[in-house]
Amino acid sequence: MTATIIDGKAFAASVREKVAQHVTRLKSAGITPGLAVVLVGEDPASEVYVRNKGKQTVEVGMNSFEHKLPADTPEADLLALIEQLNNDPAVHGILCQLPVPDHINSEKVLNAIDPAKDVDGFHISNVGLLATGQKSMVPCTPLGCLMMLREQHGSLSGLNAVVVGRSNIVGKPMAALLLRESCTVTIAHSRTKDIEALCRRADILVAAVGRPQMITGDWVKPGATVIDVGINRIPAPERGEGKMRLVGDVEFESAAQVAGAITPVPGGVGPMTIACLLANTVTAACRANHLDEPEGLTA
Ligand code: GUN
Repeated sequence: MTATIIDGKAFAASVREKVAQHVTRLKSAGITPGLAVVLVGEDPASEVYVRNKGKQTVEVGMNSFEHKLPADTPEADLLALIEQLNNDPAVHGILCQLPVPDHINSEKVLNAIDPAKDVDGFHISNVGLLATGQKSMVPCTPLGCLMMLREQHGSLSGLNAVVVGRSNIVGKPMAALLLRESCTVTIAHSRTKDIEALCRRADILVAAVGRPQMITGDWVKPGATVIDVGINRIPAPERGEGKMRLVGDVEFESAAQVAGAITPVPGGVGPMTIACLLANTVTAACRANHLDEPEGLTA
């Protein structure tokens, strides 16, 4: 079998198109959705992400507010900025790019964001709402994975789902979302016994461990849908000395021989994350103004 390749780039473009339509609807009601992104320090990867977020926010017609703070910004100043953004009616979504410098307590910062504006879905209130199956803001990467799975399968009810990785950003919220879809969910991690056999029973296999190409084709059930969240840079001597390339947590070539559908890296889950951030911002703007939720853009 050769798997269907799930085109995350095209899917993300269709999500952005839907977002743009809702932005137009909101603008005609006198509301321009606004996303504030806060970056503390000069981490080069974070700077690239933040630049892309700002660019795509403007492309779908929303306002983008960027706050770049020096690495030695006191925690109190960051909290004061978040309070200011919480109280700003032009700002519907707030995201503080992680990681923050060591002297800042990231949990304190994330929990200072108004839960209604928490487009990352990391506030403890949103985590609790999601865990108990209530309406919440949902973390962007798991939301993107869910959208692709729904597109692939329609109903997910009764399917065996294995999530490899237990992070707060991906693994745990992904498991909560799949449970809400009535999947039978297992979270696997570094201490899981016989992880290969467990993965081989999965109709849906989500890899979010951050270990390059850890999951090989012999871990995959024939016909399963494989969602690869990993983005790892590895040396690529075949491209020349010192060159690197991006790979996922799944060994794509062998897994694609067995799976029914699979996301590639790059071009799979990655592009969906920012698209879902924009979707969450438009959702937050609708909720803040008691307007209908944007259909197809929420969990
Ligand atoms: N850094 C890497 N991924 C993310 C994310 O999804 N949200 C935030 N706030 N920071 C990140």
